[in-house]
Formats: sequence, C-alpha cells, structure tokens
Amino acid sequence: MPTAATILIVGASRGLGAALAAGFLGRGWHVIGTVRSGSRTELHGLAEKHPGRVRIEMLDIDEAEQIAALRRRLAGSTLDILFVNAGTTTRDQHMHVGDVSTEEFVRVMVTNALGPMRVIEALQDLVPADGLIGAMSSGQGSIANNETGMREVYRGSKAALNMFMRSFAAREAPNPRAMAVLAPGWIRTDLGGPEAPYTVEESVPLLVDLLIAKRGVPGLQYLDRFGQVVPW
Ligand SMILES: NC(=O)c1ccc[n+]([C@@H]2O[C@H](COP(=O)([O-])OP(=O)(O)OC[C@H]3O[C@@H](n4cnc5c(N)ncnc54)[C@H](OP(=O)(O)O)[C@@H]3O)[C@@H](O)[C@H]2O)c1
Repeated sequence: MPTAATILIVGASRGLGAALAAGFLGRGWHVIGTVRSGSRTELHGLAEKHPGRVRIEMLDIDEAEQIAALRRRLAGSTLDILFVNAGTTTRDQHMHVGDVSTEEFVRVMVTNALGPMRVIEALQDLVPADGLIGAMSSGQGSIANNETGMREVYRGSKAALNMFMRSFAAREAPNPRAMAVLAPGWIRTDLGGPEAPYTVEESVPLLVDLLIAKRGVPGLQYLDRFGQVVPW
C-alpha cells in the first residue's frame, strides 16, 4: 500500500490554517501542524477526530532557534507539501506606514516575511522534487493591484514575502519544484474580521484543491483561490 502523503502546515491552530488541516485530512493526507503554545487549539480537536494522522509541533516562526529545533525533530521526514500559513497584521489597519511604530513594523515584517522564509529555507530539503513549497500571501501583497492603499504595513509585508519567494524560486532554476504564494481572498477569520465577504467553509476547499493540483506544476506562481494568476 502506498503511504499517505504528508503536508506540514505552519500556523494550524485556528482560522485558515486549521481549516486547511481539516481539508487535507478529509482527502486522506497526514498532517503535521504547528501551534505556538501548549493551549488546546482546533488542531487538537482534529487530532482526536483523526487518530494517528495528525502530529502537532510547537513553533513560533519569530524565533529562529525554534525553527532549527523543529528541523531537527523532523529529520528523516518527507514533506509532500510544506505550507507556511502563519501571519499577522497591524492592530490599526488604517495606520499609514510613516506613522507606525518601529516595534509594530518589525513585528509584522518578521512574522509575515522573514519567519516564513526562515521556515522554508530550513525545511525545504525535506520536500522531494515532486513536492510543493508554499506560503499564504494575500491579494494585498500585489504591487500591481494596489490602487487603493490601506493596510499599508500588511501589504508591504506580503509584497516582501512574494519577493523573497521569487528569490528562493530563482535559486531553484533550472529544475524548480512546484511553489506557490496564495491570495486566498478576504475571509471571515480573526485576522480577516467580521466584514469579510467570504467564509472559511467556501474558500478553504478551493485552496486545498489548488495546492494538490499545483504539486504537478514546477515553478513559482502567485495564485488566487480559483487558480487564477495574480499580477505581482
Ligand atoms: N483572512 C483573510 O481574509 C486573509 C486574506 C489574505 C491572506 N490571509 C493570510 O492567511 C493566513 C492565515 O490567516 P487567518 O485569516 O487564518 O488568520 P488568524 O485566524 O488570525 O490565524 C493566524 C494563524 O497564524 C498563526 N501565527 C501568527 N503568528 C505566528 C507566529 N509568530 N508563529 C507561528 N504561528 C503564528 C496563529 O497562531 P496562534 O493561534 O498561536 O495565534 C494562527 O494559527 C495569514 O498569513 C494571513 O495573512 C488571510
């Protein structure tokens, strides 16, 4: 019997990450999901519902030493998909970039851009040639589509993530693995807020299908949940 495929989802405690974990479990995958604290999360509920198919690891992507420790614990593992979902935003969405505190700017940039790339650099060798490496970006990270401003620091952090992924992808040439930065749409979660037009239930199954389909397509793409290319 072939062994089930495995996805590592970084940031799987709640919101889109927990829903992604549920979606992959529903398709028969094994899930390694990370949480930040010892508290019970949605991922713990999924682990109880799917005995033997969920491994919970602790990781705060702001902490480089925790990333190195996770890499040591995963030695010998194969990750068919490595996906960094974790992300954050500024407390005040209307804050102009020139007005944000240095501390807040650094916090968002480290969690949304540096942390994901540190994880990807540290764990990428566990992803086979036919695997996929991805990160949750945002439509707000598109420089080309930014006609309205708003959420300036968040936008900048996701644009930085996209740029760093392009640099990573350039190093994969001429035989790149499949890579994706996703723009999931504006979805009702703690981060998306109650005004968001889309639900987790209608959006995340599309993301799961997209990641599975994209596994067979080498190279980096910036894709929305319908698989349409988003302009950088
Ligand atoms: N919702 C939207 O409309 C939307 C749109 C575009 C893109 N996104 C992106 O989608 C991703 C998930 O967002 P969401 O809406 O599901 O947000 P959420 O409900 O606020 O969940 C955020 C997730 O990221 C984790 N996380 C945050 N900082 C972390 C860190 N330093 N280390 C490890 N994990 C960390 C959280 O863990 P804890 O539970 O420990 O806090 C949680 O699992 C983010 O990258 C976000 O930018 C969301």
